[in-house]
Amino acid sequence: MESHVSLLELRKFVAPEFIFGSGARSLAARFASNLGARHVLIVTDPGIINAGWVLPLLNDLNQAGIHNTVFDQVSSNPRDDEVMAGANVFINNHCNLIIAIGGGSPMDCAKGIGIVSSNQRHILSFEGVDEVPIPAPPLICIPSTAGTSADVSQFAIINDVARKVKIAIISKAVVPDVALIDPFVTTTMDPYLTACTGIDALTHAVEAYCSNAHSPITDLHALQAIRLIKDNLLAAIHSPDDLEARTNMMLASLHAGLAFSNASLGAVHAMAHSLGGFYGLPHGECNAILLEHVMAKNFESAPDRFRQIASALGQASDLPDELQKVELVNGIRSLREKAGIITRLGAIGVTAANIPELAEKAMNDPCMATNPAGLTQLDIEALYASAL
Ligand SMILES: [Fe+2]
Repeated sequence: MESHVSLLELRKFVAPEFIFGSGARSLAARFASNLGARHVLIVTDPGIINAGWVLPLLNDLNQAGIHNTVFDQVSSNPRDDEVMAGANVFINNHCNLIIAIGGGSPMDCAKGIGIVSSNQRHILSFEGVDEVPIPAPPLICIPSTAGTSADVSQFAIINDVARKVKIAIISKAVVPDVALIDPFVTTTMDPYLTACTGIDALTHAVEAYCSNAHSPITDLHALQAIRLIKDNLLAAIHSPDDLEARTNMMLASLHAGLAFSNASLGAVHAMAHSLGGFYGLPHGECNAILLEHVMAKNFESAPDRFRQIASALGQASDLPDELQKVELVNGIRSLREKAGIITRLGAIGVTAANIPELAEKAMNDPCMATNPAGLTQLDIEALYASAL
């Protein structure tokens, strides 16, 4: 059944203030000062520090007379205990503003630190939609990847280590106050990270466009993201210093982020979250492996939507349904392979024996609620098996 959204249906669209363009990163101290910062907690990870992105920020803050403390104990799927440790650092240093610089992990961790500090509750108690009663302290994000868009989204994904699941915190309270989106910061991503984060952005756009909660505004952003990724992903991978390709990928990520933050996602993300929580696997790589399988499964639930996606990818969009599906899925697979992501779930540690538990966890993920097709646990198990 095709999913239609009535133009009369209520839809809200939330986005932070953002500055886009080369040099945006150097505005952090000024924005922090405008927001009344006395002592800033900088949330980042060792890779970003080593890439040289944190030192200039510290210099700017020091020059502006703003105290600062760096918290870099963030792993690639940010853990609940890391959020709680960061919140302790925030509170003990009497911080009143957070700057997150890095990929989705430091940004999601920073969001968690903010709401834990203001609400004085454990991070896992905020799981779900609109479960954050007290707003967080101001948060400025400087993204270093063109993919996660945590810098504009109302999502924070945190790893519940004891249960081995990623929880989703979806709330206006985790929308940053300012995003300083600087394409130049993405030039230190290696080709594989560029590929995985770029396909993550593509997945955001595809899932938002086909989501049951899509709207005319999110549709615009989703389709533009797909067009930009089609034209720029491979150039950004193969020519890391191509600033035009980097800028267009950052723009694509921004568009995809605005789309999915407001339309939510689907089964690809539900299944990727499950893999990330269970095995600690990288988010973008999981999405890249799963995307074509889930699209093939979802196609008949929203064929007109998938035709528009085909068109945005530069494909014919007037083929008979079955052929259209095959062409679209082949196109996605080809883009993934050209991007250098040629692995399968089995090769990165997933075993058939764990599929039922993975599927059960994916079924409980909030992203599943907006998937265009109503999938059963058996459907999800079959999808994992097809990507094994
Ligand atoms: Fe994602």
